[in-house]
Amino acid sequence: MNDINAVKMLEFQQKGDERGHLVIVEGMNDIPFEIKRIFYIYGSDGDVIRGRHANRESEFVLINVSGTSKVKVCDGKGKEAVYSLDRPHTGIYLPRMIWKEMFDFSSDSVLLCLASTYYNAKEYIRDYDEFVQEVLGE
Ligand code: TYD
Repeated sequence: MNDINAVKMLEFQQKGDERGHLVIVEGMNDIPFEIKRIFYIYGSDGDVIRGRHANRESEFVLINVSGTSKVKVCDGKGKEAVYSLDRPHTGIYLPRMIWKEMFDFSSDSVLLCLASTYYNAKEYIRDYDEFVQEVLGE
C-alpha cells in the first residue's frame, strides 16, 4: 500500500546562538529511517521540474538548506498535494511509491535529499502510467 497521508513536514531541532544556526537531523530519531545516502540539487532554473519519478523501495527527506522550492506529491489514485520547502530547519518526508516533482526553485536553492537506500536505478519508476499500474496492482 502506498500512503500519501504518510507524507509529512518535519521540523528539526535548532541550536542557534550568537554564532549562527545549527540544525540537527539524526537517522531513526528525527526522520523515520537510517540515512544511507545523501545528495543535493542546486543550480536548477525556476522553470525546471525535477523528480518526476516514484521509488519502489526508497524513502526520502528533502530539506531546502538554502533558498526555496516546492514539492508536488501524487499517490497515483487521485490524491495529490503541494508542499513548500522554505526554511532550513524543516523538511518533507516522502514514503515509498509516491510520485514526486520538485519545482519552483529559487536561484539560491540548495535542496538536500536524505535517502534510506543506496542508489539503484532499477527501483525508480520514471513513467507515470507505469507508476499508476503498479500502485493499482499492489
Ligand atoms: P535524477 O533522479 O534524474 O534526479 P532528480 O530526482 O533530481 O530529477 O538523477 C540525475 C542523474 O543522477 C541520473 O542519471 C541518475 C543519477 N543519480 C545517481 O547516480 N545517484 C543518485 O543517488 C541519484 C539521486 C541520481
